[in-house]
Amino acid sequence: MACDRRTLLLAGALSWALAAAPTVAQDAKTPIAVIGGGNIGGTIGGLWVKAGHPVMFASRHPEDLKPLVETLGPLAKAGTVEQALAFGDAVLIAVPYRAYPELGKTYGSLLKGKVVLDAGNATKARDGDLAAEAESAGIGATSAKYLPGARLVRAFNAANYKLFAQNAHRSGPAMAVPIAGDDKQALGVASTLVRDAGFEPVVVGGLDAARTFQMGSPGFGHDATAQDARKAFGVTE
Ligand SMILES: NC(=O)c1ccc[n+]([C@@H]2O[C@H](COP(=O)([O-])OP(=O)(O)OC[C@H]3O[C@@H](n4cnc5c(N)ncnc54)[C@H](OP(=O)(O)O)[C@@H]3O)[C@@H](O)[C@H]2O)c1
Repeated sequence: MACDRRTLLLAGALSWALAAAPTVAQDAKTPIAVIGGGNIGGTIGGLWVKAGHPVMFASRHPEDLKPLVETLGPLAKAGTVEQALAFGDAVLIAVPYRAYPELGKTYGSLLKGKVVLDAGNATKARDGDLAAEAESAGIGATSAKYLPGARLVRAFNAANYKLFAQNAHRSGPAMAVPIAGDDKQALGVASTLVRDAGFEPVVVGGLDAARTFQMGSPGFGHDATAQDARKAFGVTE
């Protein structure tokens, strides 16, 4: 089963990341819905579980997520997308970008008003015309079009999951995670969740600024410190 290979790879990356993550007592940590329990969802969601967040992972086949949640322990659950969106006060979207239009149509009412961390990247090979749309309109505007009403923050899209797994809670200055969004309060929630996962958030700007770290841009694919990332993105605050 394809899922077994993916689970094994993910378990390897996760054990690396989780070994470095400090165990934190659970004190009213935000419950999180992770939509997509693959490479990026499994990695970042796993780091949140380790930080004490209750996390429900969802996909079209939640039964395939059983090995992942069993590895992560009692704070991790698997469910349908509907169950996860009802469970989470914050949401990480970690599905192939081609699923966005349908996701927005089917679950729009549940996503409305939710803080949504959007990790998706659009590639031509996998996502077809959506990649061209994201390139011309900007990935932030494209996500906002397909997920209307969600309080979107672009986050965790700008590096390979292995880079996140290797650098979470690293010693020395933390790895920067560029984030962008139009909703200040949502940016605050996202910043806390980025820190809880073991990184330092760098707010690059509003949703439109997500262009500067979308796939194929110079801001993509780094494990820089926050100081270096602020300089590279021209962030002065
Ligand atoms: N891989 C990376 O290093 C990385 C880094 C940053 C950002 N990203 C972005 O993150 C997203 C996910 O990438 P990934 O590599 O983690 O993919 P992946 O390993 O293939 O995992 C995708 C997950 O999404 C689920 N899924 C797919 N379609 C769905 C739908 N319509 N509704 C609900 N769940 C669905 C899949 O399960 P089912 O098929 O069983 O539903 C699976 O759990 C992509 O947009 C990618 O560009 C990836």
